[in-house]
Amino acid sequence: MSTKSIAVYPGSFDPIHNGHLDIVHRCRPLFDEVVVAVLRNEEKRPLFSVAERVAMIDDQLAGLDNCRVESFSGLLVDFMRSLEARVIVRGLRAVSDFEYEFQMALMNRRLNDSIETVFLVPKDEYIYLSSRLVKEVFYLGGRIEGLVPEAVVGCLEKARSD
Ligand code: PNS
Repeated sequence: MSTKSIAVYPGSFDPIHNGHLDIVHRCRPLFDEVVVAVLRNEEKRPLFSVAERVAMIDDQLAGLDNCRVESFSGLLVDFMRSLEARVIVRGLRAVSDFEYEFQMALMNRRLNDSIETVFLVPKDEYIYLSSRLVKEVFYLGGRIEGLVPEAVVGCLEKARSD
């Protein structure tokens, strides 16, 4: 069993936004290692491929020594077992997140009782931020500067022109 404390921050990250990055920065001092885990789930019809999402995140994690990005498919708890990780980190925003997050945390506990879910609250300016809203505002011509990293704005522009 690994003696390192490894946290997994799972999600769709389609695309990663500043609220996600805020959570990554908040987790870093709490764990030896933070693994941002991108779910491989084509059923959700993501805008960006897994490879594109992983590349965008990797770009943002450059220089952060205890963070890396991976992708996974199947059950999160199985992926966690393969890493010997015992903590799932999720960002908790508005009250509306609560039921969904509670269901996932309890299901993951049922699947593996030695894994704990830890919720972190993002900076208040990101409380109402979601990848879905970022895409919607961008495609309708609204400003998304300050909500996603500049490189992600570039990826959205490229996706729009393709
Ligand atoms: O960013 P999202 O879409 O809210 O993230 C959801 C995610 C990836 C954390 C969740 O769908 C997940 O863990 N899926 C893996 C499948 C799984 O383990 N399901 C059972 C536990 S809910």
